[in-house]
Amino acid sequence: MPPRAIPYLKAAVHLFCINPVFYLVHLYRSGMLANQADPVNFLTHYTGDWALWILLADLAITPVRRLSPKLAWLIRFRRMVGEYAFFYATLHLLIYIFLFSGYDVPTAWAGLRAGHLMEPLHQLRLVWPTMLDDLKKRWFIQIGLLSWLILLALAVTSPQRVLRAMGGKNWQRLHRLVYVAGIAACLHYWLLVKAGVRAPLKDTVVLSVLLLARIAWSAWKKWGRPTPAVRVARAA
Ligand code: HEM
Repeated sequence: MPPRAIPYLKAAVHLFCINPVFYLVHLYRSGMLANQADPVNFLTHYTGDWALWILLADLAITPVRRLSPKLAWLIRFRRMVGEYAFFYATLHLLIYIFLFSGYDVPTAWAGLRAGHLMEPLHQLRLVWPTMLDDLKKRWFIQIGLLSWLILLALAVTSPQRVLRAMGGKNWQRLHRLVYVAGIAACLHYWLLVKAGVRAPLKDTVVLSVLLLARIAWSAWKKWGRPTPAVRVARAA
């Protein structure tokens, strides 16, 4: 890939990743969102799906890059794609807090407009016990929260200066947790669907292939790769 093409490709990836938000805005403005049988449910599922798909795309970058040295440039997209996964997961969480859990948005908004700056916080306090109850009782919420917290830690530590401050090895160790975030996201999906529903299967197959590729690469690096001495001898 010629270096000159990278900024164009980055712009294309940005457009692709932000497109689901444009689509939501379009649905809202055209009234199509309100026509959904359950708009809040639609928004929760839509953002959850995109968070998972972009997370899987992020996980795919490293194994694909390893297929050929010519694909080394792909690594320059990892941080950006990872940040989009975090963005959609956060949007998903905000939709859960402010729409799914019964938060009274119109009252909070009316309070703000009337100059009661604490009204949004007051409304949050009202739904807090329901959310806490959800968190205590529902496994899928706990596992979803775990996945989101990992994505948060990865997003916070993704800038270069944080990498330098942490040291490469520590940073790499922490960023390996992205696989745990992927596993937790798939588990979250399985736990929330009704028994017999196989909707999370496709995502789980993709995740399993990526995890196997990761394990195979580690095994090859440890046992299969010829040592420098063998490589020199073979080349001679
Ligand atoms: C605190 C964090 C999270 C909360 C509270 C949460 C909550 C929810 C809720 C309430 C649903 C809908 C459940 C239903 O319809 O009964 C859902 C669905 C879903 N969530 Fe999450 N979630 C969280 C984190 C995540 C993360 C981090 C991901 C992915 C990276 C994710 C991916 C999904 C997916 C794929 C679905 C199903 C979408 C579909 O059915 O098409 N969630 N989540």
